[in-house]
Amino acid sequence: MMNEPEVDDVAFLTGNNAKKQVLYSDNSGTEKIRRIVCSKQQAFCVTGFVLIFLLIIAMVASFARPMPRCPIVTSATEFRHTTPASTNLIPTAKTGEIFPWHDIRLPPFIMPVHYNLFLHPNLNTFENSGSVNITFQVTMQTNFIVLHSKELNLSRTVVLEGDDRTIPVLQRLEYPKHEQLYIEVDGTLKPYREYTLWIDFKKHLEEKLEGFYISSYKSTDGQKRYLATTHFEPTSARSAFPCFDEPAMKATFQLTIVHDESHTAYFNADVFQTASYGNGLSITVFDKTVRMSTYLVAFVVCDFKTLQKTNADGINVRVAVPPEQLEEAQFALDTAASVLHFYQMFFNISYPLPKMDMIAIPDFGPGAMENWGLVTFRMTTILYNPSETSSESQEHVATVIAHELAHQWFGDLVTMQWWSDLWLNEGFASFMEYLGTNHVEPEWKMMDQFIVSTTQDAMSLDSLESSHPVMTDVDDPVEIEAIFDAISYKKGAAILYMLKNFLGMDTLKKGLSVYLNKYRFKNAQTEDLWDCFTQVALTSTHLNVSKIMDTWTRQKGYPVITVRLKHRLVILEQRRFLLTPPEYDDAAPSDLSPYGYKWFVPVTYITDQSDKENMFWLNMTDGQFFLPARTKWLKLNVNQTGFFRVMYDEGLWNTLINLLRTNHKVFKPADRANLLDDALTLSRVGILDSGLALNLTRYLENEEDYVPWETAILHLEILDVLMQESAALSLFHKYMLKLLKPVLGTLGWEDEGDHLQKKLRSAVLVTSMRFHDELTVSQAKKYFQNWMQNGKKVPPNLRNVVYGAGVKYGSKEEWQFCWKQYQETQVPSEKRLLLTALGNTQDMWQLSQYLNYSLDKNKIRPQDTTLVIAVAARNPVGRLLTWRFVRMNWPQLLEMFGQGSFSMDMIISETISHFSSRFDYDEVKTFFSGVEVGSGMQSLQQSLERIRANIRWRENTEASVIQWLQQNANFS
Ligand code: BES
Ligand code: ZN
Repeated sequence: MMNEPEVDDVAFLTGNNAKKQVLYSDNSGTEKIRRIVCSKQQAFCVTGFVLIFLLIIAMVASFARPMPRCPIVTSATEFRHTTPASTNLIPTAKTGEIFPWHDIRLPPFIMPVHYNLFLHPNLNTFENSGSVNITFQVTMQTNFIVLHSKELNLSRTVVLEGDDRTIPVLQRLEYPKHEQLYIEVDGTLKPYREYTLWIDFKKHLEEKLEGFYISSYKSTDGQKRYLATTHFEPTSARSAFPCFDEPAMKATFQLTIVHDESHTAYFNADVFQTASYGNGLSITVFDKTVRMSTYLVAFVVCDFKTLQKTNADGINVRVAVPPEQLEEAQFALDTAASVLHFYQMFFNISYPLPKMDMIAIPDFGPGAMENWGLVTFRMTTILYNPSETSSESQEHVATVIAHELAHQWFGDLVTMQWWSDLWLNEGFASFMEYLGTNHVEPEWKMMDQFIVSTTQDAMSLDSLESSHPVMTDVDDPVEIEAIFDAISYKKGAAILYMLKNFLGMDTLKKGLSVYLNKYRFKNAQTEDLWDCFTQVALTSTHLNVSKIMDTWTRQKGYPVITVRLKHRLVILEQRRFLLTPPEYDDAAPSDLSPYGYKWFVPVTYITDQSDKENMFWLNMTDGQFFLPARTKWLKLNVNQTGFFRVMYDEGLWNTLINLLRTNHKVFKPADRANLLDDALTLSRVGILDSGLALNLTRYLENEEDYVPWETAILHLEILDVLMQESAALSLFHKYMLKLLKPVLGTLGWEDEGDHLQKKLRSAVLVTSMRFHDELTVSQAKKYFQNWMQNGKKVPPNLRNVVYGAGVKYGSKEEWQFCWKQYQETQVPSEKRLLLTALGNTQDMWQLSQYLNYSLDKNKIRPQDTTLVIAVAARNPVGRLLTWRFVRMNWPQLLEMFGQGSFSMDMIISETISHFSSRFDYDEVKTFFSGVEVGSGMQSLQQSLERIRANIRWRENTEASVIQWLQQNANFS
C-alpha cells in the first residue's frame, strides 16, 4: 500500500501556498517543488500557532459562554430569523447547540471570491484528504459566516484577514438538515476587505453517483480499474468540499490534486504543472478557472486515454475514454469540434476557455453533465461504434453532445439566479441541441423530429392538473431535483421553438447574443431574457415578448383552440386543455392562475390557397378572421410550432381526413404528425369522437415518413396498454398490423437507406413484433438463431427487433445467451440494447430473477437499475410482477434513488401509470401513503392523475373504440 502523507502534509499545499505556486513565472518542476517544500516549513509554524490559539479561544469561550448567544451583529440583523415558538422547530446543530441560521438559503451578504482546493483521493483506500481555502468578502458587518458542507469530516478551521492575520474562531456548528456550516469569529468582518476561510476535511469516497465518488471498469484483461470522479448538479458540490453552493455565488477555483503517477487528473481548467510527489505519486496543479458556479466544478482521476483535435476556433477539444475504447471516441470528437464552432458563430460570443474535455464515466447518473470545460458523459452518450451502434443511438450521442455544449453558454457563462429558473438552463440546451445537431447532420431533419420527442411529450405531461409552471418556486434539494423534468426541459424548449417561429431566426439570434453578452459570467432571471428579446424585437416586430411569454412560463398548461367555420369566417376560441376536465376529477383541485388560463397564442395556418404561413394572434382572448374566397381547406399550427392543440369542427376534420386519405402529401410530415397527435389526444379525453380519430389513422397505410409514424406509434401504444384487458385487444392488433403491412413491405429487412429510413424501419419492425406479426417474428428469430448458433452479427438497426423477439419468443437458452453477451460486450450501446431485450422474456421466474439482478451491483450497475425496472414494467407479462417488486424493495430503491429526480420519476411512472382500474388505483394510493417518496412526489401525483384518466377512458370511451374496430378492423 502507498505511504500516505498525514493531514498536515496534505494541508500545507493549500491556501496561500498553493495560490502562490501558480504565480511563479518559473516553469521548472524541481524549482517549484523546492519552493513548495520551503512553504511547508512556514506552514508548520503558522499551523502550530493557529492551533494553540484556537485551543485557548475554545477554552475561554466554553467557560465564559455556556449558552450560545445570538451571533448576529446589528448590521446583519435584518437577516436574523426569529426563533420559532415551539422548541422542536429550533434548528439544532450536530453537537446539540442551537444552530443560529434558520434559512435554507445562505446569507446574501457573504460572497466567495476564490477557492483554493487541495485534494488527495487515495484510490486504494478510497480515503480522500482535502483542504479548502476560500477567499471571501462581506457586504455588511458580521461576526459569522454560513456556507454549505455535507457529510464531510471537518477538522482544522481558520479564518484570516488578508493573507495572514488570524481571526479567532469562536464556534463551528454543523446543521445536517440544511447541509450548512456556521462559523462565528471573535471580531467583526468588515465590508469589502478580503478574508480567507481555511478548512481541512476528510471523506471516505463511495461507489455512488453523486458528489466526489468512485467508479470502476474492467479492462480487456479482466482487471478492475478504479477512478474517482464528480457529479455536483444541483447540490452535491457541498459533499465534496465546504462551499457556498448556490448558483449565484460564483467564484474562481483552483485545484491541486495528488494522485497515482499512472493516473491523469482532469479539471475545468488546463494543467498548470505536474510534478512527482514521491512514493509513486504525482501532484498536479491546475490553472485558475473563470468565474463560475459551484455545481459546474468537476474533477476526475483515472487511467484513460484521449483523442484530441483543435477546432476551427483554436479550441483544444479532447475526448477521454478507457484505453480499449479510444476508437469509439472519434465521432464524439468530430461532432464536438464542429458544434462548438457552430455555437460560437450562432451566439456571436467566443467560447471563453482554451480547452474542452469530454470524459466517459462508467457509472454516471444522468445522461451527461455540462461542467465547464470538462463535460462528463455516460458511456452510451459518448461512444459510437459504426459497425455496432444503431442510428438512433448515434443520434443520441450527437444530441447529448450538442446539449451539453449549448450549456457552455446557457448555464455556464450565464447561469440562472436560482433553481426556480432552471428552465433557462435546461429548456435552452434542449432547444439548442436540435440546432447544433442539425448543423452537423442536416439530413437528420432534427426540427421535424423535435415535435415528436419534445413538443408532443411536453404537451402530454402539461395536460395534467398536477403539472407545474415552467417557473416554479423551489427551496430544498429534494424540490430542486424534482424540477429536472419534462416541463423544464421539453416545455421550455417547445416554447422557445414557438418564440423562434414568431420572432424569426435573426431576431432570436440577436436577442440571445444581447442576453449572453449582458450577463456573461453573471446570473440572470427569466425576465432578463424576455427584456433582451423585447429590446431587439420592438424595432422589427413591435412585440412585447415579456407580456406574451409570461403567459407561457408563469402558468401551467396550454390551450386547446376550437375552430368553427361559418362561410368564410373562422371563429377561434381558447380554453385550457386538460387530460381530465375538472368536472370529472374531484381528486385534483385546480389551482388559480394569474392569467386565468388564457394565453397569447400565435396561431399560424395554411390553406389550399397558399402554403405560405399566415399568423393570427389570440391575445388572451378568442378571435376570428376571414379566409379568401373558394378556400377548400385550412390547417392550423403549421408544423406544430405552437404549444397548443386544435379542435376543428366536424366539417373541417372530415375535410382534413379526406385529404390525408386521398393525398396525404399535401401536408408536410410535421403537419401530418400534428394532426395525428391532436386527433388521438382529443379523442382520448372525449373531446373528439374516437371513430373520427380512428378514421384519420387509416391514412397510415400510405404513410412512409418517420415523424408521423413515430407519433402514431406512441399513441397507438397507449391504446394498446389501455386495452390490455379488453376482449377486443386482438382485433386492435389486427388493425394495427394492417396499417403497418405496406410500410413493412416497402422497407424490408436490409439495414439501408438514409438516417430516418433506418430509424423508421427499426421502429415499425419493433411495433409489429409487439403486435405479434408472424412474419416479423419468424424473420427476427432466424436472424437471432444465426447469431446464436453461427456468430453472425445482426445489422445495428435490426438488433432491437431481433434481440427483442429472440428473448420474447425464445426459451431460457436465448435469455442466457443474451445475458452472457451483456456481460462480455464492451460496446455501451450493445449493453443497453441487451438490457432492454432481456426484459422481454415471457417467463415469470426469469423476469423476477432479472429484476433481482438489477439490485445487485455486481451484476447490473446501479445507473441501469431503472432501465431494467422500466422494461420489465412495459412487458405485459411483467406489469404486476414489477409493481410487486417495487413495493417489496421500496426501502432499497428509496435509499439508492430517493434523491435523484430522473430515476424516481422513471420508477414510479413506469410501474403504475398504466393502471386503469379503481382497485389498482386504491392499492397504489394506499401503498404510497405509508412510505416516503423522496423527489418522486410530483411524479406520483402525475401518475395517479393518469390512472384516473385511464379509468375514465375505460368507462366512457372504450366501448366506442371497440365498436369502431369491429366495423373497420377488416378493412380492405
Ligand atoms: N444538467 C443536466 C444533468 C443533470 C440532470 C443534472 C439532472 C442534475 C439532475 C444535463 O445537461 C442534462 O440535461 N443531461 C440530459 C441529457 C440531455 C440530452 C437531455 C440527461 O441527463 O438526460
Ligand atoms: Zn441539460
